[in-house]
Amino acid sequence: MDPLRRQHAQERKRIAVIPGDGIGVDVTAEATKVLRSVAGAAGRKLELVEFDWGADRYLREGVSLPADAEQMLREEFDAILVGALGDPRVPSMKHAADILLGLRFKLDLFVNARPVELLDPRLTPLRDRTERDIHFIVFRENTEGLYVGIGGIFKKGTADEIAVQEDVNTRKGVERIIRYAFEYARQHKLGRLCMSDKSNALNYGHDLWQRVFAAVREEYPEIESSHWYIDALSMQMVKDPAQFQVIVTCNMFGDIISDLGAQLAGGMGLAPSGNINPESISLFEPVHGSAPKYAGKNLANPLAAIQAAAMMLDYLGWSDEAAAVQAAVRASVHERQTTHDLGGPLGTREAGDWLAHYIAKQGVARAGTRT
Ligand code: IPM
Ligand code: MN
Repeated sequence: MDPLRRQHAQERKRIAVIPGDGIGVDVTAEATKVLRSVAGAAGRKLELVEFDWGADRYLREGVSLPADAEQMLREEFDAILVGALGDPRVPSMKHAADILLGLRFKLDLFVNARPVELLDPRLTPLRDRTERDIHFIVFRENTEGLYVGIGGIFKKGTADEIAVQEDVNTRKGVERIIRYAFEYARQHKLGRLCMSDKSNALNYGHDLWQRVFAAVREEYPEIESSHWYIDALSMQMVKDPAQFQVIVTCNMFGDIISDLGAQLAGGMGLAPSGNINPESISLFEPVHGSAPKYAGKNLANPLAAIQAAAMMLDYLGWSDEAAAVQAAVRASVHERQTTHDLGGPLGTREAGDWLAHYIAKQGVARAGTRT
């Protein structure tokens, strides 16, 4: 038995849970249900502490992200699990920006890892594609680019109005995300990596991406690295997704192609993400938003949030537990024990129950003993 793993088994993990708004609340309840089930099955100690940060609290008290949040999360927790943020009563999205983008920036979560994995051929809108064809990961730069909020509006509301939104690319920021993607490929023995930008039009910011990519790829000669402009990449993702294993790109492009990738693999109901700082606390969430019109109706698919929870378990070093959750998710998809969007008969809660029971019944196989 791996001594490290035994040591982990005695460790207690503390998770900050932020259900947020809309269906975020519904899917997070199922993710925590599944986490409790897998922790129970494995004999792990998992403490889940819930925070009510979201639109209700913002409208009631004017507080979005509390002032001490960043430090508290860093000091007192091992990971963060988020549902979704966004509410029609806050059209400015101010609270969502403060909480989600605020945590990405303040905790320096510079990697946004968004795996795209087809679990069943019937779920892709592409013809004649199987699990083997759609299996890649997008690394989205998560702290720079068009998301930094630098800019301004001049002569607002007049015919002469000017709105400026700056695209910030730093050498350090570009290099660390490109290097992270290469390191991931190396560690996971993935032979192909594609960097995507728009350097044919963005001749300063993305010229930097080109130069950094050219330098970093030299250090990874065993990895076949390629480049597509983002418009061509979007086309290639649909035309021939099997060519991709690792994709690395900037913040805005990563946002867009992660929705495209999610749809290739069965829709937003299945797409998880990890906002990662490899040296500090990280945050896991579904790629989807808060879908207010489905909130509280027992309709939302909890699998994206549940797979985000599995990514979190893996990050915590509990890879057997992560594998158990993933196996349960696969089984539920194959047996059509899912919500309606994936062709199943279940509601949100029943889909979560099914997985929790499946895990409790199967138990958690230790890596050495798995058959
Ligand atoms: C995402 C979301 C966010 C983003 C929104 C809610 C600001 O679309 O996580 O992909 O654009 O990053
Ligand atoms: Mn998005």
